[in-house]
Amino acid sequence: MNIHTDSTADTLTFIGGGNMAEALIRGLLAQGRIAARQLRVTDINPDRRAFFEETYGISTSPDNAQAVAEATAVVLAVKPQQLATVLRDLAGHWTEGQLVVSIAAGVTTARIEAELPATVRVVRVMPNTPALVGRGVHAIAPGTRATADDTERVAAWLGASGQVVHVTEAQMDAVTAVSGSGPAYVFYLMEAMQAAAESLGLEPRMARDLIIGTVDGAAALWQASPDQSAADLRARVTSKGGTTAAAIAVLDNAHVQQHWVQAVQAAHQRAQELAQAT
Ligand SMILES: NC(=O)c1ccc[n+]([C@@H]2O[C@H](COP(=O)([O-])OP(=O)(O)OC[C@H]3O[C@@H](n4cnc5c(N)ncnc54)[C@H](OP(=O)(O)O)[C@@H]3O)[C@@H](O)[C@H]2O)c1
Repeated sequence: MNIHTDSTADTLTFIGGGNMAEALIRGLLAQGRIAARQLRVTDINPDRRAFFEETYGISTSPDNAQAVAEATAVVLAVKPQQLATVLRDLAGHWTEGQLVVSIAAGVTTARIEAELPATVRVVRVMPNTPALVGRGVHAIAPGTRATADDTERVAAWLGASGQVVHVTEAQMDAVTAVSGSGPAYVFYLMEAMQAAAESLGLEPRMARDLIIGTVDGAAALWQASPDQSAADLRARVTSKGGTTAAAIAVLDNAHVQQHWVQAVQAAHQRAQELAQAT
């Protein structure tokens, strides 16, 4: 095993045991790179602590400071709005050489580094929820003090629950809008497809199978066609005067693509606002 990504000596503390912490932890445990005894989860919610103990056999605590003191690496996994309080409460509890991984949307690395001693390094990550089934897309950007080894170490952990894409800090808000929030856009499309299928008399279960298979297959087809754009592939299933053309005409008349672009831009703007506010 590569010495840089050998995690057997690590103790990873997750501050905040929410959905995303669970997705990352599930991947780490499934991969076997890190054992449950090397993980800690803190959460203010006792139900979430009980959940992690019962489901994953991970020790939990309501005490962030104590859990940080025991860790070689700390994943900041609370909501962006909760992060300022968490960092303020942790002042004075950091240890030289610790690595901090932030997954908080819209919180800059500079903002986090400003709350930490100079000997603590930061790597910023934007994950997404398909990590729960090992199919996440994780964007990763090193902080100003992070080394290549740090990035490699975090990439190895994240690789357990999806693919890793290396980006710059400056790209993070755009990545947040595209892939961080992205699964919700796809679910939104699938919700509409489900309603449409049921309006046409299909059983809900059958509609679900048709929609999942279609979205999965279309993504796989694009993946297998590196020289084709999504527009090229769409054109190939849109015969003039045919059924698909009838559907696309309705979407075009309603300017759905333009609205979709505006929606992703709104997510980007919100990420920038969060960066200002936190
Ligand atoms: N979910 C996504 O799709 C997604 C995608 C990319 C990035 N992210 C980022 O991932 C982070 C976590 O998101 P999430 O969806 O997992 O959020 P979440 O489900 O709300 O998880 C956060 C957990 O932390 C707990 N908490 C709040 N304050 C705390 C404190 N002071 N100490 C310890 N625990 C505390 C919360 O408890 P309460 O609920 O009682 O407040 C909650 O259980 C966010 O920063 C988000 O920007 C999420």
